[in-house]
Order: sequence, then structure tokens, then C-alpha cells
Amino acid sequence: MTTTHTAAPADRLGLIPPYATAQLEILRAHAEAKGLVCIDLGIGSPDQPTPPEVLEAMQRAVADPANHRYPNFKGKLAFRKAIADWYGRRYGVELDAETEVLPLIGSKEGLAKLAMAFINPGDVTITPDPSYPVHHRGTLLAGGRLSLVQARAERDFLPDWSEIPQADLERAKLMFYNFPSNPTAAVAPRSFHEETLDFAKRHGLVLAHDLAYAELAFDGYRPTSLLELPGAKNYAVEFHTMSKTYNMAGWRVGFVVGNAKILHELYRIKTNMDYGIFGAIQDAATAALALPQKHADDLIALYQRRRDVVVAGLNRLGWNLTPPKATMYVWAPVPGGAKAYDFVADVIDRTGVVFTPGSGFGAGGEGFFRISLVAPEATLVEAFDRLDKAGIRFAP
Ligand SMILES: Cc1ncc(COP(=O)(O)O)c(C=O)c1O
Repeated sequence: MTTTHTAAPADRLGLIPPYATAQLEILRAHAEAKGLVCIDLGIGSPDQPTPPEVLEAMQRAVADPANHRYPNFKGKLAFRKAIADWYGRRYGVELDAETEVLPLIGSKEGLAKLAMAFINPGDVTITPDPSYPVHHRGTLLAGGRLSLVQARAERDFLPDWSEIPQADLERAKLMFYNFPSNPTAAVAPRSFHEETLDFAKRHGLVLAHDLAYAELAFDGYRPTSLLELPGAKNYAVEFHTMSKTYNMAGWRVGFVVGNAKILHELYRIKTNMDYGIFGAIQDAATAALALPQKHADDLIALYQRRRDVVVAGLNRLGWNLTPPKATMYVWAPVPGGAKAYDFVADVIDRTGVVFTPGSGFGAGGEGFFRISLVAPEATLVEAFDRLDKAGIRFAP
């Protein structure tokens, strides 16, 4: 007879809904069991290899015994300096590599732990709906509440902060936002960042901007860094990832920069929960930040071509989309007012093409689905041929 423990999981696990991508895996397995070869445009995991210069730096760094010990909690000074230099070159923002830069084990890690550093049970975090799920989940795990602000198509998916109820504002401590946006692919003008910073100042909030898609912008568009705004460093931090720009999603490395006091509190949480990033990965990431602009330009051109294939594919089937200016996603309305999950499940079942239902990013994403540009152009063309053959069309 086997025995097992009788301990129930912590209540906090009941506070978080399942991750959307886990549900997609089940639908995909059903389609494959029927013999369909799936085209997975669900998760935003870059399909391109990490640049060779980064691999070479990693190979050298792996052989260095200094990298075999526990890493320094704050990250290597050389990596922090490379981040500060990149910020200076890219945005003209000066950062103190000692106090205003903190390397992360991927930005997801830091986003979740920032909430652990500031949110007590009952405290409120403000964030747009829909949004990248981790902007919600750290707060829920910390026992906090969310004040969700709808990001509506009529306002180009820019939330209107004046809609936040007074009662939420009284308990609000933290605010997350993200432009260019995952999942809506919307971009924000500089004036929107100014409004958001002004709002955070008036209410004494910690403001966290997630600039994961800093470099993936098209048609000459260049996203704004919140830290370019005068005074932003007094209230704000900005998260970056190496996953997208440098095709390093599996390496787990990112960073956060900005207000030294906010970074210090996050650092205190981190010293109790992790040991930082493998030193060799930091050396490789340092090499990535020194890559010439051509690397980013080539990647931008690749995603821009894919974006054009996807938008043309959808528009051929009756959608009427304007190409997004940034990110590695296309965000589109579900035909005929169907539920997003039902539409996505039906498309997988009939064609083997996997999209993500917008409802996986919050109730505000209902009625939309997201397509990730993570397959070669020929595969994207085939995906829309399959939809066409299955008779899938857009009707309002
Ligand atoms: C907006 C946003 N922030 C953060 C992340 C996570 O990035 P990382 O790989 O650095 O954890 C993603 C990943 O898709 C994202 O879309």
C-alpha cells in the first residue's frame, strides 16, 4: 500500500487562474491525436537562434572557474555597466550601475517579485486589462487586490487612468503597464507616458513600465522609454528582457533599471529567494548588449515581414486590420461575437493552427485572439491557407 501526505496546497494557489498556455497544450494534444500537424502561433517564444557572438562568449565563460561559484546577488559589475551603457546609447538616460541597475533571472522573475516587495494583503495594484499575466499574479500571490483598467479598442488600447475608483486609489501602491503591449500590440505616444507618470506622482505610486518589446518596432517607429521623461527616476522602474531582442528566452536573463530605492526593496526580496544569474549567462548577455545595431535591424525586418504576411492572411479572410507598429504579435477580433476560447479551440480542432484566446490575458481580452509571429513566412502562409480551406472567415 502506498501512503501519501495529507497537506492541502496553500490558499494562495487558489487565487490564481490557470496559465492560458497550459490549456492550449491540451487542445493541441487533442488535435495531434487526430493526426493534425499543428502550427503553433500561441506562445511568444522566439524561434530564431541566439546570435553566434553570444554563443561564443558563453562557451568561453562556461570554462571560467570564477563562474562556477555562487553568483553575486547584485549581478556582475561588468554586466550592470553594459546595461547602463546601452541605456545611455539607446535613450540618452544616465544610470548609476551600482544602484540603478538590477539584473534579473528573466524579467518575469522581477515583475512577480516586485509585487512581493511592496504589496501587503489588501493593498491594490493597478494594471490594464488585458495585460501580460505576470503583471497580475505577483500581487495575487502576495494577497493583494487588483484594480483593472480596461484597455479598449476605441481608445487604441490605451487605458484611461481616470476610471480607477477612489476606493482603489486609497489602497493603491503599485502600477504596472507595458507599451508596446503584449497582448494588444498597441503602442503609446510619449504624452501617454507623461500622463501615466503624472498620475503615479499624484498618488505616490511605485510605477513599473515593462519595455519587453523595446526593439521590436516597425516602419521606423521607436518606442519611448519611461525613464527618458524628466523626474521619472523618482517614481519609476523599467523592466527589460534579453529574451526577445537577442533570442535568449531559454537563457533566463533580463534586467530592471530606475529608482534606486525601489530596486533596493526588490533586491532584498531576491536575496531571500534566489542566488542571481549564472555568471556565464551574465557574460554572454554582456556580449549581446554590445552587438551592432545591424543585429536588431535584421530581427526587426524579419518580424515586420511576418507581420505583413499575417495581416494580409487575416484581411484576405475578411478582417480589416491595420498592421501593428510593434511587438511580435497580431491582436485580432474574434468573428461573429464568439467567445475567444471557443473560437481558438474550434480553429485548432479544424486546422491544427494554434492561437491564444484574448481572455487568457484578463476579461478585457474577451472577444480577441493573439497570433505570435514565431514561425517562418512559408508556415504562416500555410496557416492562413488552412483557415481558408476550413471556411473560417471574419464577420462582425
Ligand atoms: C510584456 C512581457 N514582459 C515580460 C515577459 C517575460 O520575459 P522574460 O523572458 O524576460 O521573463 C514577456 C514574455 O513574453 C512579455 O511579453
